[in-house]
Amino acid sequence: MPRSTWWFKRDPERLGVAVRNAFECRRLTAENASLRKAIEYRHPEILIGISPAIMELHCLIGKIAETDSTVLISGESGTGKELVALALHHQNRSRSGPFVPVSCGAIPEGLLESEFFGHEKGAFTGAIASRTGRFELANKGTIFLDEVGELSLNLQVKLLRVLQERVFERVGSAKTRAVDVRVISATNRDLEQEVEEGRFREDLYYRLNVIPITIPPLRARLEDIQLLVRHFLDRLNRMNKGMISGVTPEALGLLQAYHWPGNVRELENFIERVVALKESGEIDVKDLPMSMRQSKKSEGPAAAIDFPPQGIDLPCLIDALEHNLITQALTLSHGVKSRAAELLGLNRTTLVEKLRRGNQPVR
Ligand SMILES: Nc1ncnc2c1ncn2[C@@H]1O[C@H](COP(=O)(O)OP(=O)(O)OP(=O)(O)O)[C@@H](O)[C@H]1O
Ligand SMILES: [Mg+2]
Repeated sequence: MPRSTWWFKRDPERLGVAVRNAFECRRLTAENASLRKAIEYRHPEILIGISPAIMELHCLIGKIAETDSTVLISGESGTGKELVALALHHQNRSRSGPFVPVSCGAIPEGLLESEFFGHEKGAFTGAIASRTGRFELANKGTIFLDEVGELSLNLQVKLLRVLQERVFERVGSAKTRAVDVRVISATNRDLEQEVEEGRFREDLYYRLNVIPITIPPLRARLEDIQLLVRHFLDRLNRMNKGMISGVTPEALGLLQAYHWPGNVRELENFIERVVALKESGEIDVKDLPMSMRQSKKSEGPAAAIDFPPQGIDLPCLIDALEHNLITQALTLSHGVKSRAAELLGLNRTTLVEKLRRGNQPVR
């Protein structure tokens, strides 16, 4: 008899426990897998944060999940515009098609029309084969027009037509093609001002801005910093086999006082650097670059909570906060409900009940 099983005979009760454990383990594994799938389905891109701005974003994403309305996302560089666009795409079950991003600012003006609409062979010098454009590729899905404020006036007219009539022609072709896409665009410019100054067409602005979403800069939602640090530490530790356990209160204070010109992306890059350079322990003041160490003490997270003059939807915000924190606890605990309940200060039954009730997407 193999050494590891000899005790079964001597101790039948222990055998029973082992079998029960094995079954329980299998049940938990299956439960965790389905739970993780459920989380991924509902939150393929988890927007981390507990600030009212992020909670409101969750509410809004939930509310417009099933609509095909055109959305314009504004925010400084690195605030999470693409993440929000992806979350909107994944929440829309009728849009099972692709998510096709186009970086309007990165493609030279002369190539952008063909990038948008495709071209036929021989349409211009160098067009040695025909090519499908991004609008066609995004059929039945979502096209994400990033940096839409960079479009030339000439291209703005062409974009307006496809938004109004949902038809276009490839460059060098007379054949009109129809397309069924949801349009989400993003800008870090103030498009209203661009309109006033004649650089952006007003009619196009109104077409794009059916549902406006503004993501505030990170410096205006300090209460998100600690959670974001935890989120990136977990992810980057896992990816790079790092062992950074957290951040000291002094270092956290400085991170909350820093002005984050590059927003969440800058924070993510900072954590990546620390995980690569530091072996273990907590992130301390000496691990911060000089620019962050010199940050002036701010008034603290509470000062960042602004009550919007148009009012709020408190029940929706509270639902979203609960949903967000539960999702984060489940992610942290890799789907183990008892651990997630512990992290949340709930008992397991209460958590299970909340999960059962909250099985629909956030309102
Ligand atoms: N609330 C958030 N929770 C988790 N990760 C976030 C959040 N906001 C941003 N990120 C991460 O920060 C990085 C920058 O986000 P993203 O690319 O969406 O920003 P952006 O606004 O599109 O930036 P840019 O204007 O420079 O294109 C990404 O890696 C994204 O996953
Ligand atoms: Mg972007």
